Amino acid sequence: MHFAEIDSTNNYLKDRCSQLPHGTIVSADRQTAGRGRFNRKWVSQEGGLYFSVLIKPQHTDFWPNFTQLMGLSLCRAIEKLFSNTYLKWPNDVLADGKKLCGILSEGVLSEGHLQGMIIGTGVNVGQKTMPDVGQPATSLWMLGIQADKQALLQDIMRFFWQDYPAVEKHGFAAIREPYKKRFPFIGKEIAVRNGEKPLFGTVRDVSERGTLQLATANGLEEIYIGDLIV
Ligand code: BTN
Repeated sequence: MHFAEIDSTNNYLKDRCSQLPHGTIVSADRQTAGRGRFNRKWVSQEGGLYFSVLIKPQHTDFWPNFTQLMGLSLCRAIEKLFSNTYLKWPNDVLADGKKLCGILSEGVLSEGHLQGMIIGTGVNVGQKTMPDVGQPATSLWMLGIQADKQALLQDIMRFFWQDYPAVEKHGFAAIREPYKKRFPFIGKEIAVRNGEKPLFGTVRDVSERGTLQLATANGLEEIYIGDLIV
């Protein structure tokens, strides 16, 4: 399904989750109420690729790892166009140190059960300028790459479905190696923010569960959610 304009592709799937099958994809040229992580707004002007995928996993043990799978799939598709593309845990994609893609995943609960999960993705493709979003952002166009949004979406989803069964079965362990290969922050000093004060430390690893292991002044911390400040 494709729309010229929509409020948010995530909202569309959220409102229709029970009627739509696993694997439904909805995309749009513009969003009037695009949303990002931590209640942030996701400015969605013409030129960007905005899409959401509805998944209905067999069980819920590994649900955060599907978002990381989408991050990896984005990175794999985009690195073919621009080589200095990499992951920033948990699931941002950066190019030349600037944000190129973001993912907002949302679960849909019904009577206490997870009915489905929506993985909403924004990729800065053809925008000529990027709004000030509190962190440096770029687009493929600004990097000198002219990409076809439809072909890019197909490539991203090909990578996603290729590893989906393994992630459904084994979680992050199934994609840990290719993920770590694209995550250049191991051994680096960083800060992680998740609402409260930032936590400072040295990145030790990304665990079998997809969590970030950070060596801090108080010992090794396992981080489940947050924003990396690098
Ligand atoms: C982030 O904060 O980095 C995540 C941004 C996610 C934006 C995408 S665009 C398609 C989908 N619809 C939304 O409203 N948000 C996601």
